[in-house]
Parts: sequence; C-alpha cells; structure tokens
Amino acid sequence: MSETLANLSSESRQFPPPEALAAAANVKADAYEEAAADRLAFWATQADRLDWAKKWDQTLDWSNPPFAKWFVNGELNVAYNCVDRHVEAGRGDRVAIHWEGEPGDTRTITYAELLKLVSQAANTLTDLGVGAGDRVAIYLPMIPEAAVAMLACARVGATHSVVFGGFSVQALSTRIQDADAKLVITADGGYRRGKPSALKPTVDEAVAQCPSIENVLVVRRTGQDVAWNDKDKWWHETVEQAGTEHKAQPFDAEHPLFILYTSGTTGKPKGILHTTGGYLTQVSYTHNAVFDLKPESDVYWCTADIGWVTGHSYIVYGPLSNGATQVMYEGTPDTPGRDRFWQIVDKYKVSILYTAPTLIRTMMKWGDDIPAGYDLSSLRILGSVGEPINPEAWMWYRENIGRERCPVVDTWWQTETGGIMISPLPGVTATKPGSAMTPLPGITADVVDDQAQSVPNGGGGFLVLRDPWPSMLRTIWGDDQRFLDTYWSRFGAGAGSGDDWIYFAGDGSKKDEDGALWLLGRVDDVMLVSGHNISTTEVESALVSHPSVAEAAVVGATDPTTGQAIVAFVIPRGNVETEGDIGEQLNVDLRNHVAKTLGPIAKPRQIMLVPELPKTRSGKIMRRLLKDVAENRSLGDVTTLQDSAVMDLISAGMQTGKSED
Ligand code: WT7
Repeated sequence: MSETLANLSSESRQFPPPEALAAAANVKADAYEEAAADRLAFWATQADRLDWAKKWDQTLDWSNPPFAKWFVNGELNVAYNCVDRHVEAGRGDRVAIHWEGEPGDTRTITYAELLKLVSQAANTLTDLGVGAGDRVAIYLPMIPEAAVAMLACARVGATHSVVFGGFSVQALSTRIQDADAKLVITADGGYRRGKPSALKPTVDEAVAQCPSIENVLVVRRTGQDVAWNDKDKWWHETVEQAGTEHKAQPFDAEHPLFILYTSGTTGKPKGILHTTGGYLTQVSYTHNAVFDLKPESDVYWCTADIGWVTGHSYIVYGPLSNGATQVMYEGTPDTPGRDRFWQIVDKYKVSILYTAPTLIRTMMKWGDDIPAGYDLSSLRILGSVGEPINPEAWMWYRENIGRERCPVVDTWWQTETGGIMISPLPGVTATKPGSAMTPLPGITADVVDDQAQSVPNGGGGFLVLRDPWPSMLRTIWGDDQRFLDTYWSRFGAGAGSGDDWIYFAGDGSKKDEDGALWLLGRVDDVMLVSGHNISTTEVESALVSHPSVAEAAVVGATDPTTGQAIVAFVIPRGNVETEGDIGEQLNVDLRNHVAKTLGPIAKPRQIMLVPELPKTRSGKIMRRLLKDVAENRSLGDVTTLQDSAVMDLISAGMQTGKSED
C-alpha cells in the first residue's frame, strides 16, 4: 500500500526539562499513567479544580455520539470560578490584569476590581433584558472591557460570540445574524500602529442589517467622533454607573458558554459551540499543566487577540480560573518600535510567554540584536500555537528569547478542541524542536492512514482524536448535520465503518521513530508530486533551516510532468542581500538545500524571494492565494487577508521572476 503522507525530515536535537523546573512542576510523569488507567476518573479529578454549585452525576454521557455531555447535571458559574472565588479566598488584591495600551497608557486591575467590573456589567446586561439563553456579539479591541464583557455574559448565562475587531461589516453582520444576537458590545475604536482605528462605523453598518439587535453598548477608548443611533448606550453611562453587587447563579454544565466562528477553507463560517463545565475544566487544567503556572509568582502573557480561541481559552477562561496574573497588550508588536514585546516582558517581568510561530518568524526576520538588547531573565517557559513551528524558528525562540534556559512548549489544538490537546509538559517532556510531542494526559490522539489504521512509528497520515474530551465542541451552531459531515464522517462509525466515533482534525501528521507527533499542516495543502504526498510544512521547515531564510510558504502548482510541482515563496532574513546575481545564487542554493535536506523529490521547481506573505488576521499563511499566483490564476477572495497589497507585490514579482532550471 502506498504511504499516506511522506516522512522526509528527521531531527536529532532533544532538550530535557531543566532540573529545578522538573522537580517543582505542577504536573509530573505519573499524570500520564493515571489518565491511561482511567480516563474519565482522571477528568473527574481535574473538574474538582473548579467550584461546582452542584456536583455532576455522570462524568461523560456518550450515548448519542458525537454529541457529548460532560459532567451531567453538574452546575457552576464560569465567572464565579474565574473571579469571585479568588476574592472570597482572600486574594482580591492580586493583580489579574496588567493592561498595556498601545500608546503606553496602562491599567492595573486586581481580582477585587475585576469582580466589581464584571458585576456592574452583569447588572447592565440584566437591565438591558439580556439573560440566560440570549446571544451577545462582542466586537472590541484588546482592552480590559473585552474580558469583562465575556465574563459578564458568562455570569448571566448569555452566550457570547466574539468577533475579531479587524473583521468587516459583512463578517460581523453574518455572525450576528447566524447567532441571532440581541446586543452588541463595541468601542469607538482602538489603537493600532500608532493611530486610533475606528470600530463603531463598522458596527453601525452591520447593525442596520441586523434587526435582532436591540442595544449597542459602546466603550469609549479613543475618544474619536462617533455617529450616535437610537440603540446606542455608552458603557461609562451604564456599566460604570451600575450597582457593584451581583450574585452569580449557577448554570448547567452543558449550558452554552460561547460561539466562536471559524472560517475554514470554504463556505460560510462555522459557529463552533462550546459549553460550560467540560470547557472550563480542560482550559483550567491545561493552563496549569502546560504552562506550569504558579499563580503567586508567575506573570503570564499570551499575545493572541481575544477574538481568537487562544484569547478565549488562554487569556480569559484558563488563566483567570487559575487566579493568574497576566499582561494584556492592546497593539501591534512594532509600535512604536520592533522591541515592544521585549520591553513589555522586561517591564512586567513576564515569566510565561505564549505566542505564535508567525510572530517568532517575524522576530527572526527583524534580527537577533533586538531581543539581545533586553535582559529577559524573568522568562521561564515559552509557548507556541497556531501553526506548525519550524525547527529553526523553535531553536531561534529557545536561544534568543529563552536564552537556552526555558522549555519551549509547542501546543497543538483548534477552535474546535477548545483547549490544548497535544503538547509537551514542561517539567516532564524532553522536547524536540518542531514537534508538539505527545497528547496530554486524558487525550487520545493518533495518526492514521485512509483506512483509519494507526500508522507505525516513522509513518505519516491524518491526525485524529479517538475519544471525546471535555472541551470538545458540542456542535456547529444551528447545523448538527454540518458538524457530523465536517468532523465525524471521514473515519469510523460516522463514516459507516466500525463502532468507534473518530474525530478528524483536518491536519496531516507523522509519528517519528519515538512516536512523537509532528504536525504537517492542513491536509488540503498536501502536495502530490510524482505520486508522493508531501507536506508543505516539511519543505517550509527545510527552507527555514537555511541561514538566509526567515519565513517560507510552499504550494503545489499544477505541473505537466509531475502532477504537482513545488513552488516556494521565501522571505529572506533582514541582513540578506537578494539583488541581481546574489539573489539568483541564493535561489539555486535554496533549491539544492531542500533537495539535500529532504531528498530530490522535495526540490522546489521554483522559488520566489518575497518581502511578505499573505496571512489571515490570525497569522496563518494563505496558501490558497499563493497557489493562484503560482498557477497564474486571477486572485480569488482576499477579504480575510491581513494586507492585500502583499499580493500585488508577489504577483508582480512572479511574472518577472525566473528561477526555473
Ligand atoms: C489549526 C487550528 C489553536 C488555537 C489557534 C488556532 C493549526 C494550531 C498548531 C501547532 C501545528 C497547529 C492546525 C489546526 N495549528 N496549533 N502547535 N502545530 N499546527 O486555532 O484557528 O482553530 O486553527 O491551526 O492546522 O488544525 P484555529
């Protein structure tokens, strides 16, 4: 039988946990054994991290797969668990959020103050007729009110739908309509790249198309002029005047907590639904385990936007349920200078940093000397999420940011999984650069071939999850059939074979000789070259392992002889010369470098040296657009592109670029 996905790269570097960190780690190796012995008992133990108003009668009801119920008949309030209980335990003076505005203004919010803010917002929601069973759209910049608004919804049992503040009228209005939201919480604007960037006009236009909206609550952040409509109410004239006492009612463990839309590759966005008890259990547990959080001493910083699931699970619900002190930053990493991140780490003595490969590669491109100017000795754990991290980017992160002292945890998960699924444990795992390593305790991941057979070590295929997990999505909002079709009908019972329900994540993966997992990108991106299935990730990582390369994106373009041929788009590192003959030579060197690293089958037909790559707002490379360029097609939909000028640059270069043999 032919291989499902080729395994071309190999990695021999390995880094055991620092001894002191291992000795004091929150989670040790026995967690894997405990979970393997009795998975449900393990998750029931983790659920005890939370305060339940009513204990559950059954840990998991899987009698109607793939529709799971976790902690059946248990009751709890998410906001109570994230805020009140820390104050009741005498920790009200602990800082919850060190907020840093892009212009340099700051706010320090303790847990006691957070309780007051969330209570006021909850009272306002009630006054506006918003309660359990309603939906609220949140369209805010990265300001503390974003977390407050989410927690206030959770507190009154309203389901929030956060829409990323960079999205358009169209994106916002379709999300409001799909969820039938009755309230929007927004702001006049936020700061980005040194300037106020308006939000309210987008909301005004969207709301005009959304009759379900009864009120619009507006935070004043920038003070810019805004048009004012009948439905609008200022946050400072409502929430900030409201009573500061609010008693949180418990809700059922399966009460809908939030909907978060994920665009996927085609079709209308999917409203991923997450519920209460299982979600909070897994994000709380994984935040504690993967980041080894010591709430008394750590300062945690996740650089994601609250509009993505990372912001939901690892800015709001995980860290706050654990009583963490965290940094929240409003703006971009290069405002006012390219050292802003390191300035923030230094200023707040950040000890745990969680960021994305796209940012790490950007920092690589900007140059080692920028972080080198900062102390950074407060850091003790570094995390990565969002895309496969290339081994060289991982090493750069370890050396230049972690100064070889800090474990790097590459965490694989999805909007759909709600929480981290595959990751090293920083006090247990000997990490390999570029690998997410193994499923966390209580999680069953596997790599299978197209017959759903587990591939042996050294083999590649499809990443699947074989058992339900607490923070799994419960359905796609309003579309159970699409939920079944998208995730459950590729393998197992949902595909009409076997009794087991197998979740298909849509990612390619391989197991190395030790069984560690390497994520290889979306299976839709896999290239078929002369009969070999080759992952874009492996070729990209081979390119990034060349000292002249900061970032690379690879696509399979139609080719008359090989079926598909590999076309690579490469961003050189900051100091690399690319003009004229030097550029031509680099091009040849890079193609040979890939052939040498991965074998001749993976040698790119063509390489384009480019200044930027097209990325989604969350930093994922849009290979679909590059494929259009590589196949000389006119560009498809570019509305989710971060910066559409990038594509003009790339297309223009492509017509003149000559790098064929
Ligand atoms: C997809 C999910 C998870 C929160 C942010 C993204 C890719 C994510 C990794 C990783 C390799 C990764 C996968 C996944 N991905 N983390 N550590 N290594 N790939 O959430 O937007 O739902 O995207 O991001 O392809 O399926 P999302």
